[in-house]
Amino acid sequence: MSLPAFDGPALLAWYRAHRRRMPWRDAVSPYRTLVSEVMLQQTRVETVIPYFERFVATWPDFEALAAAPLADVLARWSGLGYYRRARMLHAAAQAVVAQGGVPRTPDGLRALPGVGPYTAGAVGSIALGLDMALVDGNVERVLCRHDARPEPPATIRRALWARAESLVPPGEAGDHNQALMELGATVCTPTSPACGRCPLARGCAGRAEPARYPARVAKRAVPEAHCHVARVVEDGAVLLVRRAGTGLLGGLWELPGSVPSPVAEDPGVLVTALRRRAGMEVTDIVPRA
Ligand code: ADE
Repeated sequence: MSLPAFDGPALLAWYRAHRRRMPWRDAVSPYRTLVSEVMLQQTRVETVIPYFERFVATWPDFEALAAAPLADVLARWSGLGYYRRARMLHAAAQAVVAQGGVPRTPDGLRALPGVGPYTAGAVGSIALGLDMALVDGNVERVLCRHDARPEPPATIRRALWARAESLVPPGEAGDHNQALMELGATVCTPTSPACGRCPLARGCAGRAEPARYPARVAKRAVPEAHCHVARVVEDGAVLLVRRAGTGLLGGLWELPGSVPSPVAEDPGVLVTALRRRAGMEVTDIVPRA
């Protein structure tokens, strides 16, 4: 399959002139890149910035994070969601310390807890100068548009990674990868791409109809779940119970309540829930909106 020519030098020049300032770009290190990339996985840049700054101020390096109690790390993460990321980051810091330093090979990086191909590519290219590619949602969109790929990205992941790998300019992978992501975030956006100021526009096979790329798959319906929770107050303190250590929101604290159900249930389910979760016998339920 022949793919359109990709103007890598134009992309790099555009990035160097237009990159946004981000705290993890000011002082680059494997630790700061790993923390920022893990935070950015499901969260927008503007949201991540204050969390990143507080996090690295509290734990400035792998050693400090590895020695921190997990509960403190989860508390600092509070508000970012997807807490599995925080657990894995903590475990990755402990693995780095146990190994006596950051692994400096693609396989070594990918072997760290919670570090998949994307994160390994980011840390390897941005902080270690390795010629590694990466593909995230922004990169997928840029590549699918540029190459006018008719397939939904999820069905051609391997081909997209191979394409990304073929585009890495030796010695400049970090800036190149960030340029692709930055282009996707600020120019080649999902619904209103600004092709007039895109450094890749001349070679872009999707330019005439950017909205066609990437091809979309029908979304699955979001499942609905209902549950009742109880606010139990004694001497001004609110009763919280801890969720099981694994699974959704594992190990986090919550108000005691019923198990989520696809259909709405009577608030009376709280009687059983409180007995089971908190060993309490309920005599009276006062509904609150
Ligand atoms: N999204 C996630 N990581 C990024 C980075 N380093 N630069 C631009 N966008 C990103």
